[in-house]
This record gives sequence, C-alpha cells and structure tokens, in this order.
Amino acid sequence: MYSPERLQYLEKDFHVRDDDVYIVSYPKSGTTWMMEILSLICKNGDPTWSKSIPIWLRSPWYESIEGQSQIKDVVSPRVLTSHLPFHIFAKSYFTSKAKIIYIIRNPKDIVVSLFYFNKMICIYKDPQSFPELLEDFLQGNLLYNSWFDHVKGWMQMKDSINFFYITYEELHTDIRNSVIRICKFLGKDLDDSQIDLVVKHSSFNAMKENKMSNYTMINQDFMDQNKGSFIRKGITGDWKNHFTIAQNDYFDEVYKEKMKDLNVNFFWEQ
Ligand code: A3P
Repeated sequence: MYSPERLQYLEKDFHVRDDDVYIVSYPKSGTTWMMEILSLICKNGDPTWSKSIPIWLRSPWYESIEGQSQIKDVVSPRVLTSHLPFHIFAKSYFTSKAKIIYIIRNPKDIVVSLFYFNKMICIYKDPQSFPELLEDFLQGNLLYNSWFDHVKGWMQMKDSINFFYITYEELHTDIRNSVIRICKFLGKDLDDSQIDLVVKHSSFNAMKENKMSNYTMINQDFMDQNKGSFIRKGITGDWKNHFTIAQNDYFDEVYKEKMKDLNVNFFWEQ
C-alpha cells in the first residue's frame, strides 16, 4: 500500500513531537472507535468537532503522510493514527515524550470483522472465503502482516510510561472507566459530565449515525456501501457465529504456539 520511500521517510526522518499522541492498532481492532474517543476527549466531550470534520482529518493516518510539509501545520497536540508494525515505526518516537495508545482486540473477532470489511473494499475484486482468510490471517499473509508479530512487537513497549494498551473488550465492558483511564494517561482532566459526553458520542449508535465517522462519505469506488457498513456490528464474540469447532481448535493451537513467549493475559481471555 505504501512505497518503500515513504516508509523509509517515516521511519528515519519523520519528526515526532513530544506532545504527539499516536493511536496504533492492527486493522479491525477498534481503531476508529479510539479515534472518536480521542477527538471527544480533546474537546472535553463537545461533539461539535467530531460532527463537523471527517475522522481522517481529526486524527490523520501517519503512514499516509508523504512529507513533513503535509503535517507540520497541524496544531499541537496532534493525534495521529497508524497500523504500522513496531519495527518500522518512527525512530524519533523512541527518544521523544510522545504517547501511544495501542488498541488490541480478540483476533478471532478481527478475522470476522476483516471478512466483512474486505467485501466492501473495492480493491478486493474477489474477496476471500472465510477459510481462506482465516488461513492467511494465521500465516500473517495480509496487509500489515502478522497480527501475532504486530502485538508481540508493540507489547515490547508495555512497561514504558508513554505507552498505554487497552482491549476492545475492555472498552465494551466498561467504556466509562476506559475513558477515565485514557484521560489519566493523556493527563486530561475531564469532569463527570464531560466524561458522560465522551461516552455518549462515541457509542456504537452515535458513531453509526455520524457521517463524519462512519465512512459513508468515502469514495464509493474505494468502499462500496451497498456491500456492508464500516460500523458493522460492534460486538464481542461474533467469532462464535462464524468459526467451526475445528477452526477454533486450530486457531487456539496456532495462538498458543505463536504467543507462548508473551506473558500478558489479555482481557478477552478471561
Ligand atoms: P465489527 O466489524 O466487528 O462490527 P477498525 O476501526 O480498527 O477498522 O475496527 C472496526 C471495528 O470496530 C468494526 O467491528 C466496527 O463495527 C467496530 N466499531 C467501530 N466503532 C465502534 C463503537 N463505537 N462501538 C463498538 N464497536 C465499534
């Protein structure tokens, strides 16, 4: 998707500012949800900005940046979004005070979400069947490569004070407390009624209705809205409606092997 020159520029020359915030995730992990939450937190819960400016301008895609000139005028603090893996992320991040919010989701639900998303995306003229996609996911044979490597790579940062990780499932289970934790990480002091506004305007239904966030404004040649919705189902555990018992056993086996060295129990496993 991105030229080697651009990726090299981003890795070696992109200037990370100390007050930047990056939302980082593997695709379909709840990235857009986090973008909306941060837009609202930045404005103390006031939804005017998130209802009037497209989400991709509120927290631009880091890997879409071609040169410093494109982004240098964005007023600090910038919120940028990225799906890039750890090993090719901006080197200057590691010597800065910039913050990263890493969002992680049950990978089985990612496969399901990706399956429906790929049907809408017009570059995939012939979307894969579910078993084909599942196999490619487990082999890491997809855009942004392996989910396992993505998570293991970024989780190397888990003890850094400028790195915060949270699961989609935690957002789902207790959005209010999640927003409070995110505010604390960002050093944003919102009162109870402002937190209520963040929760209200980042809900699944609010985002589904918000044309600035639901990707219905995107070019039809890129995302065919007749073939599905970007803000699709928004639930946890949809994999149970899609995986056979054999697929689930196979997934668990691969997961156990690939994640054996990562000593983190993610919330969805409880
Ligand atoms: P589903 O396809 O399972 O519904 P990303 O933004 O990383 O591409 O992730 C997209 C997934 O997040 C989709 O999952 C989408 O419906 C879900 N999502 C987006 N906004 C949400 C919200 N406010 N609440 C719950 N899920 C949301």
